[in-house]
Amino acid sequence: MDIRIFNTFEEASRFAADRVCERILAKPNLVLGLATGETPLQLYRELVERFGRGDVDFSKVTTFNLDEYLGLPPDHPQSYRYFMDRNLISHINIPRERTHVLDGMTRDAEKTCREYEAAIAEAGGIDIQILGIGGSGHIAFNEPGSTFDSRTRVVDLSEDTIRANSDGRFFKDPAEVPRQALSMGLGTIMEAKEILLLASGKRKANAIRTSLEGLPTPDVPASILQRHRAAHLFIDGAAAFRLTQTTSDHR
Ligand code: PGA
Repeated sequence: MDIRIFNTFEEASRFAADRVCERILAKPNLVLGLATGETPLQLYRELVERFGRGDVDFSKVTTFNLDEYLGLPPDHPQSYRYFMDRNLISHINIPRERTHVLDGMTRDAEKTCREYEAAIAEAGGIDIQILGIGGSGHIAFNEPGSTFDSRTRVVDLSEDTIRANSDGRFFKDPAEVPRQALSMGLGTIMEAKEILLLASGKRKANAIRTSLEGLPTPDVPASILQRHRAAHLFIDGAAAFRLTQTTSDHR
């Protein structure tokens, strides 16, 4: 795995934005996998700025988001559809119908998940997938214990995730956080041709260490990325601080 440790997370995000823009230049109809949460916000700001400067054209790009809360409508301020619209989609020239987020209000979750997988395949697969990581090592809503071959499906959120998302950054109270979500599986994510995982801050340091050091295990979902041929980790010094010398030498 390609691990790059940056002095600041801003630099890491800029580096990731460079990579995404290079890929769009090389392939204007790129299929981009998107993540939500605090982590990709700077990357999205960078992409919006570059679009504003005329450096990148999103008109032929297609996007697929990793996950969505079950039971939240698209106009709910904590829904991931809303998050994407507010932080990226409404500021760039991507046709809305090319932006895909799982339908949190579905009445037939299995069908929705099946159709999502089919839509990804129909688009030619994800070229580059943006990822964050949870404190437990989760990627998307694949909590510890998720199987490596899991596909898009309904998942139960762990208590850790519910707490992490109700610390005032997103929901104010754990009781407001939906208990379930729709999420791409680890198998789905691993089929992306290239993966960019971003992480910032001490609270991710343990997850980064356990994901990179030791054998891949479903107990640490992100550890599966060790098996990916083109997984890149762009992280700041705080997120890297628990890595042993041997791992950080890979940077
Ligand atoms: P965060 O969440 O970007 O808000 O820290 C990441 C995650 O839980 O995947």
